[in-house]
Amino acid sequence: MDRDQAWGIVCEFVKSDSLRKHMLSVEFAMRGYAQHYGENADSWGLVGLLHDFDWEIHPTLEQHPMDGAPILRERGLAEADVQTILSHGPLAERVTLRDKTLHAVDELTGLDHGGHVGAPEQEYQ
Ligand SMILES: [Fe+2]
Ligand SMILES: [Fe+2]
Repeated sequence: MDRDQAWGIVCEFVKSDSLRKHMLSVEFAMRGYAQHYGENADSWGLVGLLHDFDWEIHPTLEQHPMDGAPILRERGLAEADVQTILSHGPLAERVTLRDKTLHAVDELTGLDHGGHVGAPEQEYQ
């Protein structure tokens, strides 16, 4: 999946401007960390951009991000990318450097999943 396809998914599923900005911020930070670690910036950016795509349709931790995974697979996202997105959930296991970085960056850019549960609109501003 390329960046244009991923952005199309974000625009289709995420209406909140503040949530889109959060996802763009995570994408930007992930690209920076990929360069720092000598990893693939496109692949790291892609998971950052997509990681919360299903939050508005799956706004509980029982659903997000797990229930979004089948949609991403259907749209053609590589399984390794799906697994990294799944790994940012609070109880998920983070295995790769990309998994760990996504989790850290998600918190650094303003919210953890506690924020998600409460009032996402406020948390994302
Ligand atoms: Fe999330
Ligand atoms: Fe997030």
